[in-house]
Amino acid sequence: MAEEREARITVTEDGPYRVSGRPPVVPGRIQRSEYGESMDWETGEPIPTGKQFLLCRCGRSKTKPFCDDSHLEGFDGTETADRRPTAERRHAFEGGSLTLTDDRPLCAHAAFCERVDNNAWNMVRHGTDEERAEVEGIVARCPSGRLELWREGERVEPDYEPSVVVQRNGPYWVRGRIPVESADGTAWEVRNRVALCRCGQSRNKPFCDGTHREIGFRG
Ligand code: FES
Repeated sequence: MAEEREARITVTEDGPYRVSGRPPVVPGRIQRSEYGESMDWETGEPIPTGKQFLLCRCGRSKTKPFCDDSHLEGFDGTETADRRPTAERRHAFEGGSLTLTDDRPLCAHAAFCERVDNNAWNMVRHGTDEERAEVEGIVARCPSGRLELWREGERVEPDYEPSVVVQRNGPYWVRGRIPVESADGTAWEVRNRVALCRCGQSRNKPFCDGTHREIGFRG
């Protein structure tokens, strides 16, 4: 049935993410410049999955990215993120025909927005035409959707196929407007780019808040 084919992620109580609809799951890593700047994504071949499968959320599975029941040893997966839509939190930064919006609590610290000598906010507000054009790519690579871009009032978003990128040592980058359902049965806002915590330590669950970097998460 069509419903079963539609990709969907359900957060389970103090447990893994249940994924249905078979979205491709691919390994991914951030390519960095010689100065350590995040420049692009490198993704690999899809990881074989079943029709429905469980992705680790506690960060302790020995069969990452899949769940191996390690959460049963004790994992507090309480979803603490702000349930309001991003439109009620984001701030706008304007320059030329562009508006960059910033919903800071969603930040996964992938840092595509930072350059050694510049950043996306400055590029929009004070940049050259070339720098403003570069911001479109920066926003498209921002896994969490913290940053969004608008041109003359029209949202500029890449057309991602529904898929899950397992970021090396980082979160799940969920792309293509895959619905995420809370453990309490309510729906999180559907967005084109979402970063879901897989280290188990985010203070903004189910979303990544960059804590994986502080704790040196490996996986
Ligand atoms: S994966 Fe980023 S905070 Fe858990």
